Amino acid sequence: MSNILIAPSTDPCELAQLNSYAKLLVSSGADWIHCDVMDGVFVQKRNFEPINLAGMRGIDTFFDVHLMVANPMRVIDDYIDAGANSISVHAEAFGDITSLQKAIDYIHSHGVKAGVVLNPATGAESILDTLSNVDMVLVMSVVPGKSGQSFMPEVLPKISFLDDFRKKKGYHFLIEVDGGVNENTITLVKKAGADVAVVGSAMYKADDKKSFIAKLKNL
Ligand code: DX5
Ligand code: ZN
Repeated sequence: MSNILIAPSTDPCELAQLNSYAKLLVSSGADWIHCDVMDGVFVQKRNFEPINLAGMRGIDTFFDVHLMVANPMRVIDDYIDAGANSISVHAEAFGDITSLQKAIDYIHSHGVKAGVVLNPATGAESILDTLSNVDMVLVMSVVPGKSGQSFMPEVLPKISFLDDFRKKKGYHFLIEVDGGVNENTITLVKKAGADVAVVGSAMYKADDKKSFIAKLKNL
């Protein structure tokens, strides 16, 4: 089984502690830092601002920004300026596939990687036309809004479908899975074909981050 990348989520951490939390994670072997941006509209909770990303800028890692916001175009520039390495936008936040494709092109035009996010209820069929041009598909395995929810196994066929589809088409997008990933569910996610696992509350709770990250990679 391939060695999955581990992307701890910022969501469980107090913003004031974020810099030291991210430093600890990166020095413990985390591959990416997954920045959960919530606007209080697309999801109920409001958390994370561009300044929180800019504050982590000195840390040598890959900043994977997940925009859980209405009107993503409104904030994309701010996250590019703050140092995002990738920006993922929800398919559900766009009225049609053309505007979603425009957002992907806009992100790419700034030299930043672009991803599309699918809520558990959104099928992969709705975004097939974007897949030749995205760097990543982020499959939500919980309804977005907060960390600490249970993994929804019903999204596993969507992950396998995307894995088969990219092989068939020769596409190279990564598959990232977000929500309820822990030491029990990561094997399901790996088996289905995911490349990157977002780990929020399970990571925050782990006493020894280094051995937990190693364990998640080796399971
Ligand atoms: C869900 C967020 C996730 C979440 C992950 O709204 O997008 O990134 O914080 O946390 P866990 O792993 O606890 O589900
Ligand atoms: Zn997320």
